[in-house]
Amino acid sequence: MARIRAICIDPPVMNSSCLWASDLSDLRALYDSPYTGAVTTRTATLQGFNEDESHAHAFLKNSITSINSYGYSPHPLSRYIEWVRILLTTPMADGSKPAKPIIMSITASTPPILAQMVSQIQTLRVALRDAHSSSPPDASVPDPSMLVAVEINTSCPNIPGSPPPAYSVQHLFPFLDVLATAVRADHSLTLGLKLPPYPEPTKAAEVVRVLGAYTFQRADGTPVSPWAFLTCTNTLGNSLVFAEQVLSPAQDVKAKDNVEPRAQRFALPEGKGGLGGDAIHALALGNVHAFAQVLNENADAALREVRVIGVGGVTSPAAAARMWAAGASVVACATLLGKEGVKAFEILAA
Ligand SMILES: Cc1cc2nc3c(=O)[nH]c(=O)nc-3n(C[C@H](O)[C@H](O)[C@H](O)COP(=O)(O)O)c2cc1C
Repeated sequence: MARIRAICIDPPVMNSSCLWASDLSDLRALYDSPYTGAVTTRTATLQGFNEDESHAHAFLKNSITSINSYGYSPHPLSRYIEWVRILLTTPMADGSKPAKPIIMSITASTPPILAQMVSQIQTLRVALRDAHSSSPPDASVPDPSMLVAVEINTSCPNIPGSPPPAYSVQHLFPFLDVLATAVRADHSLTLGLKLPPYPEPTKAAEVVRVLGAYTFQRADGTPVSPWAFLTCTNTLGNSLVFAEQVLSPAQDVKAKDNVEPRAQRFALPEGKGGLGGDAIHALALGNVHAFAQVLNENADAALREVRVIGVGGVTSPAAAARMWAAGASVVACATLLGKEGVKAFEILAA
C-alpha cells in the first residue's frame, strides 16, 4: 500500500497514462481489476487532440518493448470528467462501492488553458463531495472527491515542433505557477508531474530545486509542496525502429495514395516515435533512483514527502521489484498493458 497525499494506492501497482486507458470501457476494465490499486487516464487536452493515421504503435519481436507516435487523447477533458464521475459513483463489477483512486492525466499548451482544466476537475471534485455529503452517512464509503488526483503530462515526445516542456525546466515556470496556485487554494488536491527520461545525472537535482521553490506553509506552519508525486518516466523520444524488428508494422497511410505502395521501412508510418517497455527499463530505473534520492535526502521537509511513481519497463514481477528497490512508491506500466490487456496486472502480481 502506498499513500500519496490524499490518495491510497493498494496494491501499489497501476497503469500509466496511455492508449489503452482511452475510453470508458478501457477505464472500467482497469478500475474493476482486483490487481490495480489505481487507474490513470490517457492524457486529455481541453478540446481533444487531432488524431490521424500517422499516430500509431508497434511492439518489438524480441522483447516487451513498444514504439508509438501518439500525441494526446482525441477525447476532450469534459469526456474524462464524465467518465470519472461514472466510475466513482457506480458500483464496481464485484458490487462493492468505488474506493480506488483515479489519476486524471492532463496537459495544455498555455497556462490559462491549464488553469481552466484544473478548475473543471475541481468542479467535478466539489460535485462529488456535495453528493457524498448529502447521502446517508456510511463510514465504509470514502468521499469520492478524495479519490481524484491529477497528473500533468510535461513529457510527450511526439508533438511536432513541441519538445517535451520538462526538458527545459524554465519553460515550466508559468505552468507550475498555475498548479501551485490551485493547491494553495485547496490543500486536498493531489497533484503530480509526469517527467521525461533524463539521460543526464544532474537533471534530477535541477528539477527538484525548481519544484522546491514552490514549497509553502500551511496556516499551522507546516511546510507543504504542491507536488505530491513525480512520475518517472515517459517514453524515450526520437527513437527509430525498422519494420522487420516488430511483430506487425503500423500501416503506412501515405502508401495508400501511391500506385506503387512504398515498401514499409519503419515500424511507424513517420519513422520516429517514443520507446517504451524493456528497452527503457534501465534508464527509467536510473531516473527513479535519482529523483527518489534527491527527494528523500532533501533539506526541505515538504520535498521529502513527494513520492515517485516508477514507470518504464515494468513488464514482470522482477522489474516491478527493481522499481520499488530503486525508490518508487508505486509502479505503473503501459507497454505490458498494451500487449496483455488488463491481465498485465495479474502477471505483475504473480
Ligand atoms: C501507446 C502509448 C501511448 C501513451 N500515451 C501516453 C499519454 O497519453 N500520456 C502519458 O503521460 N504517457 C503516455 N505514454 C507513456 C506511458 O505512460 C509510459 O510512461 C511509457 O510507455 C513507459 O512505460 P512502459 O515501459 O510501461 O511502456 C504512452 C505510451 C504508449 C506505449
